[in-house]
Amino acid sequence: MLKIGDITLKNPVVLAPMAGVCNPAFRLIAKEFGAGLVCAEMVSDKGILYENEKSLKMLYVDEREKPLSLQIFGGERESLVAAAKYVDKNTNADIIDINMGCPVPKITKCDAGAKWLLDPDKIYEMVAATVDAVQKPVTVKMRIGWDDDHIYAVKNAQAVERAGGAAVAVHGRTRVQMYEGTADWDIIGEVKKNVSIPVIGNGDISTPQEAKERLEKYGVDGVMIGRAALGNPWMLYRTVQYLQNGEIAPEPTAREKMNICMLHMDRLIELKGEDVAVREMRKHAAWYLKGLQKTGSVRNEINQTTTRDNMSKLLFGYVDQLEEKQQRIS
Ligand SMILES: Cc1cc2nc3c(=O)[nH]c(=O)nc-3n(C[C@H](O)[C@H](O)[C@H](O)COP(=O)(O)O)c2cc1C
Repeated sequence: MLKIGDITLKNPVVLAPMAGVCNPAFRLIAKEFGAGLVCAEMVSDKGILYENEKSLKMLYVDEREKPLSLQIFGGERESLVAAAKYVDKNTNADIIDINMGCPVPKITKCDAGAKWLLDPDKIYEMVAATVDAVQKPVTVKMRIGWDDDHIYAVKNAQAVERAGGAAVAVHGRTRVQMYEGTADWDIIGEVKKNVSIPVIGNGDISTPQEAKERLEKYGVDGVMIGRAALGNPWMLYRTVQYLQNGEIAPEPTAREKMNICMLHMDRLIELKGEDVAVREMRKHAAWYLKGLQKTGSVRNEINQTTTRDNMSKLLFGYVDQLEEKQQRIS
């Protein structure tokens, strides 16, 4: 059983933190599809400290999402610790996660995200200061290293452990790789062998079978799933089912996908209003359509739409046509 601090997860399947994606609307769907833990998108420590409206809104947690991990990022000890204290006192998140993997120059230039990967001493110092300042368990999400010449995954994870971190999630790519190449699970396995806190493996898990294989082969305590869950929360459900009973649940139908897409949109509208939500949902709708036949023209139309009702008309119009075609064939 995966336990982070005093929080026991009901299964080892974790929804990865994804900026622009993991807001309460999608996280709640992931939760309803069975994820043992959902992670929120990263929030800037300075944004929290300066009480930036957008940053504070990102700290909202619906009770139904719990247990939930809220991720912060920063490069300086003082502001990181202060932001962690704010999250500790003012949110109902269960876990405070520190981002140590974001590869984007805007973030690494401020000594935040993946920049930490070059300096295990800094990791120790920053994590220890955060752990000392808060009640909630503190975890870290990291990449394996900065580049091929600086892979300090084991040292860095040990620094997290010594500092009192409650778990570490490891994405098996370097910072320089961004999202290219493949995740190196052998290094994730090395981390697991060299620390005693829970290790959650991450990177390129795209099927329930892969999730199970990685749990068994590398001995990790949990699997974190990111891109494979985009427009596809069934990936989480099917993985949980497969781990529990060895059965592969059927893929969703096109209509089932669109029903969840609309639930997702309606929840996003409640959070952000129709205008913003519909624009944000364009990318999600394209993800929900992924894998279905002949989606070119409906995708183009979705990208122009500004209202909920029009989006619904387009999506279900597409499904009606698809079903008619399937009936004619059968
Ligand atoms: C759109 C997007 C946004 C992401 N945002 C974050 C983030 O806010 N914090 C973080 O630690 N990782 C972030 N990541 C990285 C993912 O959490 C994960 O490590 C990565 O996608 C590899 O896992 P996967 O192969 O299952 O997608 C993001 C990834 C994507 C695709």
